[in-house]
Amino acid sequence: MFDIDKIRSDFPILGRKVHNRQLVYLDSGATAQKPRSVIDLTTELMAEHNANIHRGVHYLSERMTDRYEAAREAVRRFIGASCREEVIFTSGATASINLVAYAWGDRFVTAGDNIVVSEMEHHSNIVPWQLLAERRGAELRVLPFDERGDLRVDMLSELIDSRTRLVAVTESSNTLGTMPDLVPIVEAAHAVGAVVMVDGCQGVVHGGGDVAARGYDFYAFSGHKLYAPTGIGVLYGRKELLEAMPPFMGGGDMVDKVTFARTTYAPLPLKFEAGTSNFIGAVALAEAISYVESVGMANIEQHEQGLLRLATERLSAIDGLRIYGQSSRKCPIVSFTVEGTHPYDVGMILDKLGIAIRTGHHCAEPVMTHFGVSGMCRASFAMYNTAEEVELLTRGVERAIGMLR
Ligand code: ALA
Repeated sequence: MFDIDKIRSDFPILGRKVHNRQLVYLDSGATAQKPRSVIDLTTELMAEHNANIHRGVHYLSERMTDRYEAAREAVRRFIGASCREEVIFTSGATASINLVAYAWGDRFVTAGDNIVVSEMEHHSNIVPWQLLAERRGAELRVLPFDERGDLRVDMLSELIDSRTRLVAVTESSNTLGTMPDLVPIVEAAHAVGAVVMVDGCQGVVHGGGDVAARGYDFYAFSGHKLYAPTGIGVLYGRKELLEAMPPFMGGGDMVDKVTFARTTYAPLPLKFEAGTSNFIGAVALAEAISYVESVGMANIEQHEQGLLRLATERLSAIDGLRIYGQSSRKCPIVSFTVEGTHPYDVGMILDKLGIAIRTGHHCAEPVMTHFGVSGMCRASFAMYNTAEEVELLTRGVERAIGMLR
């Protein structure tokens, strides 16, 4: 059963005030709030269980190692990876994507190859590929989206050819909310032997994952958008691909034997986990997953889709307000501009009312360029938001327009 009051009471921050107003947090696309269980566990781990993993024979070290590896298993199951070797803990999605761009890209992309990225990507799934293309003399190609915010899959055959090595695409756009159908993209890439890097940052929170069944080759996400702390993220990679890649960073924990003449590396997944991992973050991520699962992904989905429909309906009724992204498959994100106002001004007035939204280019400048705007306002919803908060947002936007026009 989906009990919104119970859920809200599990997130302590939702009880606080901002500018003397009850907080209305509509920026979960940037980072989600944390349930009490995750906050408490994080404190408890540091207070009572802290010890470095994979290094000690002492009690605390062994227990923490067990919990860290159990967290890996929880992530594996949650995203549908085939085995633990395919789950690498990183500091976040950006680190995961850069790891692939360097370790896989520098080995397998050569001059004259091409990399295809979608036009709706977050900068973190664009810039690492641009840098790779520059390093290797490869070409970057762009898969555009249409006015509704759907990817032009009809153009795949023009863009993907025998020199395509990788296709980078989001599971859910952080700006348009679009959840593209990745089936034709994965098929087109695999048909020419290219691999697919899926940015799951927004998607993993909204029914994404299932990585092996969906044929993703690489999948990246950050814990902090999934109700876990910052500084922990995941890279999923198909085992054969990860095995064929050289290490990305060198250091402790990623080695087998070190001599000045030659170093051999630890087997997967540790080969890609140099240095002390964020083991507390990893265990907290598993706790966040357990929280999400206790509420139920399907229940969360249903609730959030209701909020998305309501917000779309209420905001569209405002004169001069334009919503960007009208795909029939959207995660609960509504980006908009209001004629005659600047997004920052709208955002600042909403802030004074205690309503937190994101304003600006949302780290997706090509999307702004597509629509010819410098920025947008973005409300992003999570399991703890309510219909009343959608009403407060609508009234807040109306009030901002009254003040600004
Ligand atoms: N990528 C995050 C967002 O969309 C920060 O806001």
